[in-house]
Amino acid sequence: MTTTLLTGIGSLVTNDPTLGDLSPLGVVADAALVIDGDGTVAWAGPAAGAPAADTAHDAGGRACVPGFVDSHSHLVFAGDRTADFHARMSGRPYSAGGIRTTVAATRAASDEELEANLTRYLGEALRQGTTTFETKSGYGLTVEDEARALRIAARHTDEVTFLGAHVVSPEHTDDPAAYVDLVTGPMLDACAPHARWVDVFCEKGAFDADQARAVLTAGMGRGLVPRVHANQLSFGPGVQLAVELGAASADHCTHLTDADVDALANGSTVATLLPGAEFSTRARWPDARRLLDAGATVALSTDCNPGSSFTSSMPFCIALAVRDMGMTPDEALWSATAGGAAALRRTDVGRLAPGARADLVLLDAPSHVHLAYRPGVPLAREVWRAGRRLV
Ligand code: NIG
Ligand code: FE
Repeated sequence: MTTTLLTGIGSLVTNDPTLGDLSPLGVVADAALVIDGDGTVAWAGPAAGAPAADTAHDAGGRACVPGFVDSHSHLVFAGDRTADFHARMSGRPYSAGGIRTTVAATRAASDEELEANLTRYLGEALRQGTTTFETKSGYGLTVEDEARALRIAARHTDEVTFLGAHVVSPEHTDDPAAYVDLVTGPMLDACAPHARWVDVFCEKGAFDADQARAVLTAGMGRGLVPRVHANQLSFGPGVQLAVELGAASADHCTHLTDADVDALANGSTVATLLPGAEFSTRARWPDARRLLDAGATVALSTDCNPGSSFTSSMPFCIALAVRDMGMTPDEALWSATAGGAAALRRTDVGRLAPGARADLVLLDAPSHVHLAYRPGVPLAREVWRAGRRLV
């Protein structure tokens, strides 16, 4: 088991204040990192104090940041929604009803097609620095189609979410209660073994508070941990429900009352913001500044899906959050790494400190600030996961 010394790091973001400049990012200038043979970080700090290792790799003065943790995506689907997007950019509003278009395409696709799509989007994400990702079902909406989505997802990540309650299935439009019974009964039976998380789209046109509570508590009864699509398109009960149930994360958080902000600030639920969705639906931005000032923990993720946010790029989301949501470049990077890890209740990723998985991105830039300063520029020069260079 050989150890590797990563030298010549112009600026290292550790997300461990004790290792660096005492800021939340724990930045170390002129740094080095030692990776153990098991793929974890053995040591991080100023290059001058680095211990010896078996092999060395020169970072060439680049900035090094933890691999991005994308804690919210919907990557098991077929087809796309180009026509929806085109219509939206011609003035039509976003509607959750479009989800059914993707449901039809997904049901019609073979397992091989679905997995090839997933692999393609994961490749995109990896090349942009994502080293941990969560993904969901939600475009099957039958027992078989939801279970197969989760089985396919589970081949690629441990962070798999059952979202049978994405919208009411086309077969149950006239009887939503029967669909909730299906989701909380046979569908959950088939899906729970393949998932870690349970999610629900709590929104007008999807599921109301009582239905959402039924879905989440049924999932919790099977050992799944809740997360909620909350307050995306309108004010509503999703955030309060998420906090009340101790959900790991309330996602979107675009329309928040003061009481919602207080609940997030005082509870353990992470507020996950998904600026790609507001960008691609021309909706109002979530107010990250308000959440941060209140003391909430904020994560940033892509929400990558064909309907509301067809981007796999965490750097793009960082740039939007800085430009339009009141985050500083430091806060946005923290939220895209340590914040995502918090939303997934992980301590082994999202930081570059001893014991963490050696997931890192070397940026073609002197500092992490360039992620927001140089929007749209492919800065991820090298991407390493568990101590192995993949890009
Ligand atoms: O997170 N809000 C619900 N689900 C997705 C959109 C899904 C779709 O439009 O296909 C979201 O934005
Ligand atoms: Fe989503």
